[in-house]
Amino acid sequence: MKIAIIGAGNVGKALAKSSLRGGHKVTMSAASPENAAKAAKSVGAHAASSNVEAVKGADIVIIAVPYDKLGDVFRGLGSAVDDTIVIDATNHINTENPAEVLGAPSNAEEIQKRHPKVRVVKAFNYAFASRMADPTVDGIRLDGFVAGEDQDAKDKVLELVESIGFRPVDAGPLVMARVLEAMGLLNVTLQIRHNWPWQNGWKLVGPPA
Ligand SMILES: NC(=O)c1ccc[n+]([C@@H]2O[C@H](COP(=O)([O-])OP(=O)(O)OC[C@H]3O[C@@H](n4cnc5c(N)ncnc54)[C@H](OP(=O)(O)O)[C@@H]3O)[C@@H](O)[C@H]2O)c1
Repeated sequence: MKIAIIGAGNVGKALAKSSLRGGHKVTMSAASPENAAKAAKSVGAHAASSNVEAVKGADIVIIAVPYDKLGDVFRGLGSAVDDTIVIDATNHINTENPAEVLGAPSNAEEIQKRHPKVRVVKAFNYAFASRMADPTVDGIRLDGFVAGEDQDAKDKVLELVESIGFRPVDAGPLVMARVLEAMGLLNVTLQIRHNWPWQNGWKLVGPPA
């Protein structure tokens, strides 16, 4: 598949690496075209000089920018992602006041509400970037949860998630993005609270294996 990744930081680079390993074509963009070019070179992906250029012809677009940049990104994209599968991999982390995040709709639902023509799917946000690059821990495939309204879009994302190395798990409708974002927040707060090494990933144990 042709994958466009908007955001060329920790997450963008990690997903570029694992997508390339999974046999996909990857184009990356960033706020600064120089940063995109540098990141793309470091992983062997293509760089685009703008977000609009990056998403041209993409089967799937992954959004990997800070939460507070989502508005800029979608305003800039305009209609370029209408009818396109867009994975929201973002988290809104507030460790001082988690209630602010837990009491609100998810980033993915906000995107869907503001851009109804976009086929929004939530995935990857519950994993640390290191695990997105390599989703296997002690020989065990981590779970790759996927939530969204559009089943066809979700099926394509489940395919991508599996090709990257996660066990693909359909987590239900887009409202479940609230749970997936809370899982991201919980994992972050656990690392800080217990001084853990930022390597944990989510895995449901029990059948089916
Ligand atoms: N780090 C993790 O382990 C992790 C795990 C799960 C989810 N997340 C979530 O994933 C998102 C990205 O995290 P990160 O750690 O990768 O952040 P990061 O390393 O700070 O990278 C952010 C990237 O977003 C780009 N960006 C900012 N505004 C942009 C715009 N208007 N258009 C295009 N690109 C833009 C930046 O471009 P420049 O390079 O030009 O500044 C940068 O490449 C966040 O929402 C975070 O909560 C992170």
